[in-house]
Amino acid sequence: MSSITFAAVDRLWLLTTPNTAYALRLADDDTPQHVYWGPALDMDDVRALPVARHRLISSFESLPDPDELTVAAGPRFGPPSLAVRYADGTAAVEWTYEGYDVDGDHLAVRLADRDYPLSVTLHYRVHADSDVIERWTTVRNSSDDESVTLVRVDSAAWTMPARPDYRVSHVTGGWSAECQLERVPVPVAETVFTSRRGITSHQANPWLMLDAGDAGETDGEVWSAALAWSGSWRITLHRDPTGRVTWTGGFGHDGATWRLGPGESLDTPVFAGAYTQGGFGAASRTWHAYTRAHVLRHADEVRPVLYNSWEATGFAVDEPGQLKLASIAADIGVELFVMDDGWFGARRSDNAGLGDWVPYEGAFPNGLKPLSDEVHKLGMAFGLWVEPEMVNPDSDLYRAHPDWVLHMTNRRRTELRNQLVLNFGRPDVVEWALDWLDRLVTDNAIDYLKWDMNRAFTEAGWPGNADPDRLWIDHTRGVYHIMERLRAKHPDLRIESCSGGGGRTDLGILAYTDQVWTSDNTDAADRIEIQRGFSQLYPAQVMAAWVTDCPNPFTARTVPLEFRFHVAMAGALGVGGDLSAWSAEELGTARDLVARYKEIRATVQHGRQYRLAHGPALTSVAYVSETEVAVFGWRISEAFGQPPTLVRLAGIRPADRYRDERTGTVHTGASLMARGIDVALPAGDHVSVLIRLHRLP
Ligand code: DGJ
Repeated sequence: MSSITFAAVDRLWLLTTPNTAYALRLADDDTPQHVYWGPALDMDDVRALPVARHRLISSFESLPDPDELTVAAGPRFGPPSLAVRYADGTAAVEWTYEGYDVDGDHLAVRLADRDYPLSVTLHYRVHADSDVIERWTTVRNSSDDESVTLVRVDSAAWTMPARPDYRVSHVTGGWSAECQLERVPVPVAETVFTSRRGITSHQANPWLMLDAGDAGETDGEVWSAALAWSGSWRITLHRDPTGRVTWTGGFGHDGATWRLGPGESLDTPVFAGAYTQGGFGAASRTWHAYTRAHVLRHADEVRPVLYNSWEATGFAVDEPGQLKLASIAADIGVELFVMDDGWFGARRSDNAGLGDWVPYEGAFPNGLKPLSDEVHKLGMAFGLWVEPEMVNPDSDLYRAHPDWVLHMTNRRRTELRNQLVLNFGRPDVVEWALDWLDRLVTDNAIDYLKWDMNRAFTEAGWPGNADPDRLWIDHTRGVYHIMERLRAKHPDLRIESCSGGGGRTDLGILAYTDQVWTSDNTDAADRIEIQRGFSQLYPAQVMAAWVTDCPNPFTARTVPLEFRFHVAMAGALGVGGDLSAWSAEELGTARDLVARYKEIRATVQHGRQYRLAHGPALTSVAYVSETEVAVFGWRISEAFGQPPTLVRLAGIRPADRYRDERTGTVHTGASLMARGIDVALPAGDHVSVLIRLHRLP
């Protein structure tokens, strides 16, 4: 259950979710002030809470009210959520309250600047089935003739209650090393988590989890927030000198502004937050369930087992080669065959051809339809790689439209991977992309697009546009718009978000796509860590994971085929090796493990995830459904004298009974959670198990 109630005397709103409460009020000067975020309280409890009063500590420091959207006004010395500059140079916002609306699960608190024609609406949405509270902001310039410069418009500011200490969890990394989990003390400082790259980035991901330094995987309070945005973003975490911890976040990055013309408005993306008990595991499951219920469009489908040609062929794709791979893929149980880069224009390497989206005649003399038809005849869906936002300077498109790319007058056009970024802020460029994508999908009966994006923005200018910085936001909106239109026109089309691996993984893109390419690094041992970081926020069903060849091209590591499968089977399984070089025995193993995956995938993809153990000797993850538990165990490195690989299950009912498929032994839920189960990893490095426990009726 969830609810939104208002206490008029206190000018106090209480939002409740199934297990939590969130409250805000208006201060005497109409500032929207944070009151409470934590375990469930009722209105009487919240009304009885002490009202935070702004207090001056000295002429150098104040204890300001905790703001719902911090403005640069008065003695506030922390990072603002809303920073504007009016035509006369005034920069601070002072509030006046205009009213509120409740529409079902949505609260809109309407405010305005006391003296300038700027309206600001704070939005909140609660859900009956989730402790995630969605927040976003709308700003509107109601002037008839003057623009206002928006220096920063965040979606929301979040305030954590006072605790003895604070810790933040987040992910860092880089290309092919995404999602490395960090858990560090919060310094007394402004700490900025950001991407200035035009994409979500491999280096950081727009979510934070805060705790008092005392939460573990299975216990403790966690306050978390995640931004639904796929371009540049910024979250500023502030532990101020008075001890308060807040964070504010939204789209855009430091230095990028937006000019809001007369009558124009700007909606920010959702910056959602969740308070949870039960440690980081419970926080993750809350986000997984929310993503499945309120972000993904096709959450109840199971993701098909896919094959992708990239690591097998590189750019050297042609019809006979793809057909050969497709027939072996079909034989081992693959359900979706995806042809990757190299099929179009002059794209024989990454030097040329991007932008010329016509099949390369030398490789596909009759176009793509014959391949698509054959793949369909083999009983698989057909998917295709595209990179719509990009152009190689060596392409017909660029020769015809050099002005379509992000660029600045008098500045060089930096090429990364020999390519430039098309400006998807431009409506004509968006229409062009939509047109060829629509035709490509229609003409070739394409079931699945892998939408790639292989470079960060540089020289992000828009000559001729008086407000060029808006491209940072409009580009991402252009991507969303195209995906939305494609999905509306082709309801059976499914889309994978890829940006050189996991550079565009976020709750924003997941509203328009069905899964993400987690990382270009397919080394199974490295993937265990990447998948752990990924799982903090995102559910297994969107985590594409391929089994590829050894030695791994990135790490030169060789690990057993079964280990590679077991790691990939913990997400949306794919195969990406050169199947034409696999032995009959390897293909047999693959066939068996693909079949095995299909038995458990509903549990992996739709079940609840429990991270049971983490370390080089044993990392273990379990997926729990009503009918079974699938437990994965992986060892990276053996050390002599290690204790038994015992893991204690979680998330099952003590009185339920489970049959261990390996031995037929029946265990009670109570025993599996109290004593645990020995996953019995064999000796050695890079060994793995998959255990299935069936719940007895
Ligand atoms: C980067 C992707 O992550 C890879 O999987 C592959 O599609 C290449 N791009 C193709 O250029």
